[in-house]
Amino acid sequence: MSQSLDLFGEDPTVRVQQLRELLHEHAHRYYVLDDPQVTDAQYDAWFQELEALEKAHPELRSSASPTQRVGGHALDVFAAASHEVPMLSIRTETDSRPEGASAFNDRICRELSDVTGPIEYVAELKFDGLAISLIYENGVLVRAATRGDGMVGEDVTHNIRTIGQVPLKLRGDVPAWLDVRGEIYMRRDDFAALNQRQRELAQKTFVNPRNAAAGAVRQLDPRIAAQRPLSFFAYSLALARDHKGQTQQPWTTHAQTLQQLADWGFPVCDRYRVVKGSEGLMGFYQLVSSERDTLPFDIDGVVYKVNSLDLQRRMGFVSREPRWAVAHKFPAQEMVTRVLAIDVQVGRTGKLTPVARLQPVFVGGVTVTYATLHNEDEVRRKDVRVGDSVIVRRAGDVIPEVVASIPENRLENSVEFVMPHHCPVCGSEAFREPGMADVRCSGGLACKAQRQEALLHFASRKAMNIEGLGERLIEQLVELHGVESLPDLYQLNSDTLASMERMGDKSAQNLVTAIHQSKNTTLPRFIYALGIRHVGETTAKDLAHHFGDLSGLMQATQEQLLQVRDVGPVVAQSIRHFFDQEVNQQAIQRLVDSGVHWPVLEATALPQTPFTGKTVVITGTLPTWSREEAKAMLEAAGAKVAGSVSKKTDFLLAGADAGSKLEKALELAVPVIDEGQMRQWLQSDVPDQG
Ligand code: IVH
Repeated sequence: MSQSLDLFGEDPTVRVQQLRELLHEHAHRYYVLDDPQVTDAQYDAWFQELEALEKAHPELRSSASPTQRVGGHALDVFAAASHEVPMLSIRTETDSRPEGASAFNDRICRELSDVTGPIEYVAELKFDGLAISLIYENGVLVRAATRGDGMVGEDVTHNIRTIGQVPLKLRGDVPAWLDVRGEIYMRRDDFAALNQRQRELAQKTFVNPRNAAAGAVRQLDPRIAAQRPLSFFAYSLALARDHKGQTQQPWTTHAQTLQQLADWGFPVCDRYRVVKGSEGLMGFYQLVSSERDTLPFDIDGVVYKVNSLDLQRRMGFVSREPRWAVAHKFPAQEMVTRVLAIDVQVGRTGKLTPVARLQPVFVGGVTVTYATLHNEDEVRRKDVRVGDSVIVRRAGDVIPEVVASIPENRLENSVEFVMPHHCPVCGSEAFREPGMADVRCSGGLACKAQRQEALLHFASRKAMNIEGLGERLIEQLVELHGVESLPDLYQLNSDTLASMERMGDKSAQNLVTAIHQSKNTTLPRFIYALGIRHVGETTAKDLAHHFGDLSGLMQATQEQLLQVRDVGPVVAQSIRHFFDQEVNQQAIQRLVDSGVHWPVLEATALPQTPFTGKTVVITGTLPTWSREEAKAMLEAAGAKVAGSVSKKTDFLLAGADAGSKLEKALELAVPVIDEGQMRQWLQSDVPDQG
């Protein structure tokens, strides 16, 4: 049937087979190993060749073909999918202190009292997505199902096929029948990009990566699911059978199972550890909680599993939960609370920010009473009203945020928020620039709120660093002592200061000294302290190094400003606008006249590092930095970080267990550096005087 030869005299059956193997192999390298070895263009060319052949020879089509990831049409309903091995949940250890781990270990030790020495566990991350069961027959994916009630779920094969990280065909020697369990999730960067796209299309955004992932998996139309960037980690094997239907399990530990899953081509998260006893578990818990915010995806805790499969079998299950595993949760980063009021705050640059005053709620490890709503459009988009129940999120050091309201719980008479047309502090007109989301007070430094914020910023640690000059004092100075602009600070004497509330002679004298000492500063600090809109610490540093002195910067044209690293038209215009204002020129002059000074820098145009403009590839495990950290530092030093080694690579940053990338670099004579070398080179940056 398929004996006909094509134009090039090649048997299409052979070529189709060859192309599918190539595509499976390189998809595995790309999606699972994160180590692509061919260009996207080459991959696409093979893909298109295969598509053309399958079109010309319909008899060669197969559901396991890489071309069949996105199936044709939408379903009307999901088919029921029963689980031969029930999909269990795990008991949750509620004590979210590291000690919660010893409660679990104590219980295991009691039950396994005949086992000598500490018990061995596999400690894993608890991915915050949704559980999936994948069935493979003779190495080919035939069904993907959600958990459902644990016994019967929904058949979502059409959507799961679209996920590049889910292998359609397994590698190596695979049992005849497999049921693999794992988690479908969405990476944080993919989630942010997806929400950005939704905003651009004026569509509803997703509350968190988990909801976005769950929504995508439960799409009836696979074409929609295919557009949602989903990822996958395998974490257990429910059952494996040989051709005769006999259960197969030649390995003896869970850690070996994970290794086997990886060998078959599944993505297995490499952050699991084999640990011993309660100390091992607690250590893992602490390590992961400290790294939680830097991970590329959300987790809501860790999972501990007894490593020995024999011991797992001995312990068995109780009320559909395994007795040999526990989920140890971290403090929640999202909680529901109520909005008591929506206040409007005025910032340093006059921006009016709606802020939700909340029923105090413990989230992300702190009690939150206020959460930003960013701007008018955000309030409208999230549809937050006074009295509403809302989801509040606080992850890491990020400021708390209202992610969504829960309109089902809304009070009947609730009113929509309207942005005031006048500044709530000075009463000046508030305006919204065309095309911008922010509303601003037009009062400038005539607005007390803006003056206070400007002074607070000027005195802050990374700016002029005037210790002891905090919010309270500044409020009084502005209210009672006629401090109107930045240079007025340098006119204050100890008598004025000592007359202020809760201020003794000694602290007044200390403050005068601090104000005096702040005059001896650096150019990056001074530029930052001026509080120019869009000029943060990094831009201030870049400007200082580029121009060397203030006069050059003050006179720079927009075109000249655009030459500075990371300065775009908006920033350039804001800088120009600032220095064009006569009040600002006078304020700077008065500051200099009061004795504020800094050493002139050598203008370097661009702060150069050995990495500036270079392409760097990272491989292996670095001794102290994670890859994300190394990447961020390289990028900050002006490098481009690429995924694979080619002739264009300038350096390979290699850690322990570096594999094929290192070989490739050696083959192409690409210089290889280690973490220590990178540290040294980073220090050879233009000395930081900031
Ligand atoms: S093992 C028999 N391992 O947590 C044990 N589950 O109730 C089965 N989860 O929704 C689960 N990360 O999808 C296991 N490393 C991990 C996990 C994990 C997340 C989810 C799982 C389920 C829930 C367990």
